[in-house]
Amino acid sequence: MSSYAVVGNPISHSKSPLIHALFAKQSEQAISYTAILVSASAFDAFIPEFFAEGGKGLNVTVPYKGRAFELASSCSPRANLAKAVNTLYLDKEGNICGDNTDGIGLITDIKVNHGFEIRDRRVLILGAGGAVRGALAALINEQAASITVVNRTLPRAKLLVNQFIDVARLQALSYPALDERAHDGGSYNLIINATSLGLHGEMPAINSSLIADDCCCYDMMYADADTVFVQWAKQQGAKLSTDGLGMLVEQAAEAFALWRGIRPDTASVIAALRNES
Ligand code: ATR
Repeated sequence: MSSYAVVGNPISHSKSPLIHALFAKQSEQAISYTAILVSASAFDAFIPEFFAEGGKGLNVTVPYKGRAFELASSCSPRANLAKAVNTLYLDKEGNICGDNTDGIGLITDIKVNHGFEIRDRRVLILGAGGAVRGALAALINEQAASITVVNRTLPRAKLLVNQFIDVARLQALSYPALDERAHDGGSYNLIINATSLGLHGEMPAINSSLIADDCCCYDMMYADADTVFVQWAKQQGAKLSTDGLGMLVEQAAEAFALWRGIRPDTASVIAALRNES
């Protein structure tokens, strides 16, 4: 049986083993997929060991996506852009290769699962950490009218945005500057929360007037109940408010396709996970 796993720290609440078990069942693939807790000091040795012992593929999650990028002997263009890897596999020569399926997972969830078109829309991203690094190139590809990255630490957002210096209408902003924009009547059609504030049951303090009439409010985080950001978006009457469970399933489906050559059906898996919670 081919063995796969997700590595991270913490990892016990990961839904990836369940997601991949459902993919394997529907596509009749004989695989095992486990969640492995790896400490920071053990991570670099763990990865080659896993493959040396016959492992076929790994997903990498917080806080190791950057380390996995450094460790892989070659990476896909999208992983190179993100400087982060969430999927590892061996090429024919046995080299450890890295990919990043987070961006495509986000886009597929927004466009296909929620039927929300990104092209020509004004996009606001809250946060400039690892989650945004993985998603930004994919979002840029969708040809939004503008993409604004707001971050508490403005230099971090600027650094990220400067990677795409040739992309027009991509800009970094501070929260006070965003507030000014709200007072000037500015609004967005897609607002993505990529901060880690949800972990503490909080959300960035942003003006609800930033929500345009047709706005999709998307939280990259997910939880069994509505996240604080989703609750806020619903209270403000956003047309569409969702957490990132669909993104999680879609990025997993891309990894599964890379490893097994079969793109699983995701709608049934998302529905099963929603019913389970
Ligand atoms: P991830 O990999 O999940 O993106 P991260 O790299 O630690 O995690 O990034 C967390 C994001 O949440 C960052 O954009 C962070 O802002 P800073 O770059 O200023 O740290 C943002 N964040 C965390 N706490 C915040 C807070 N209290 N207010 C606003 N933004 C916050």
